Amino acid sequence: MSELKKDFLWGGSAAAHQLEGAWQIDGKGISIADVMTAGTKKKSREITDGILPEKIYPNHEGIDFYHHYKEDIKLFAEMGFKAFRTSIAWTRIYPNGDDREPNEKGLIFYDNLFDELHKYGIEPVITLTQFEMPYHLVVKYGGWRNRKMISFFTRFAETVFNRYRNKVKYWMTFNEINNQTSMLNKWSLFTNSGLKIKAKEDAELTMFQASHYELVASSLAIQIGHKINPNFQIGGMFSMGPIYPVTPDPKNVFKAQRLMQLNHWYVDVQSSGRYPKWLKQYFSTKGYNLDITLIDEDILREGTIDYIGFSYYASHVVEASKNEPQNFITPTANNIIKNLTLKDSEWNWTIDPVGLRFALNWFNDRYKLPLFIVENGLGAKDSITEDGKIHDSYRINYLRQHIQQVKLAVEYDGIDLIGYLTWGPIDLVSAGTGEMSKRYGFIFVDRNDQGKGSLKRIKKDSFNWYKKVIASNGENI
Ligand code: BG6
Repeated sequence: MSELKKDFLWGGSAAAHQLEGAWQIDGKGISIADVMTAGTKKKSREITDGILPEKIYPNHEGIDFYHHYKEDIKLFAEMGFKAFRTSIAWTRIYPNGDDREPNEKGLIFYDNLFDELHKYGIEPVITLTQFEMPYHLVVKYGGWRNRKMISFFTRFAETVFNRYRNKVKYWMTFNEINNQTSMLNKWSLFTNSGLKIKAKEDAELTMFQASHYELVASSLAIQIGHKINPNFQIGGMFSMGPIYPVTPDPKNVFKAQRLMQLNHWYVDVQSSGRYPKWLKQYFSTKGYNLDITLIDEDILREGTIDYIGFSYYASHVVEASKNEPQNFITPTANNIIKNLTLKDSEWNWTIDPVGLRFALNWFNDRYKLPLFIVENGLGAKDSITEDGKIHDSYRINYLRQHIQQVKLAVEYDGIDLIGYLTWGPIDLVSAGTGEMSKRYGFIFVDRNDQGKGSLKRIKKDSFNWYKKVIASNGENI
């Protein structure tokens, strides 16, 4: 029976806009994350036209990792981290996105950050872009609906690949590129692709076109990266939430299969360089005449990913409707229903540890590529007790149950797994709601939803627990 590899990458994962803060320091430009207000579980974040003085924008300060990274990395090292994933804020490097020259001060920040990680033997795992892009590219070019974005992105990618060619080995191009498939979420269209859908515009058509340009940009970046350093491992990054049928009724089973196909066609393209046939049929049924050139098709085939990085939080259940179309594709209808066999988190995310093993097997069977769990965790409210501590047994339970399934997948199913990174090892701003109170960390940060607090870092109970897990390479959980 195989065990976790000796060099298994245990650690944690974050994103520039959710922790760095310092939104206007050292030449940084305004990113799309900077025009998103604070929301709540019930009230969506607003996307404003520029920055409005009366609104709260939690990403402006984040947890001020920009000025605290040394202290924070020291804590990660104390837990024994082998890897830390974060993203590069595109706007620190190219403040407007279409600038001719990169911003040296931004480049220096990441030089220092990566050096600090290496000081402790922590491998940086870097996402080129995680839910952000220069806001200027949205205003001037309409975001990824514009083919010009490909050259802006590849210039950014080339700059950072070159600069950090000896400091970073593991890269990912776009975070959760597949999130935007759901037409129900206008937030994803904005955060993934900088799309603000205009009146009378066909959102789905625009989403597919934007996605295509991103896929081409990703493939070009992979080719550029491999030329700069053939040892680079450049992966895709996908959101994975298994979709189960509500009953064995074949219609429900097929609906679940179709939704899994629909949510993961990006993985098909990024791993094989080809669009799946069912999707091409869908484009022609809908009369979508996408701008996909023969040159694009060559680029996609020549720039495939080295591994599959994915996030896993929850699973979903689906029920086919009475009047499903023949292709079972209903992008604007919500067929997702509550799983009555499982409990939900405080934010109504279904907790399903076995689903993680299912996900690992599903990816493995379809793509035969190394897998990397780059996000997993429980968003929960924490409170400081009278002893000044945070007793987060609920978080330990969640992670323990998921790690148990990871081990089973490696030991019994032979999954080739690079590592396991928890989401938000230090509390940070929630991407979905903009709240601070939705906490994932082993390290508490004193900051509330109104942006008030000392920013003091406090170790939670889970801190010492994860330290033991890593020290025993997953034996002592
Ligand atoms: C993933 C994203 O979707 O989930 C992260 O890659 C995000 O950026 C994480 O923070 C958790 O979601 P949320 O909404 O709880 O922050």
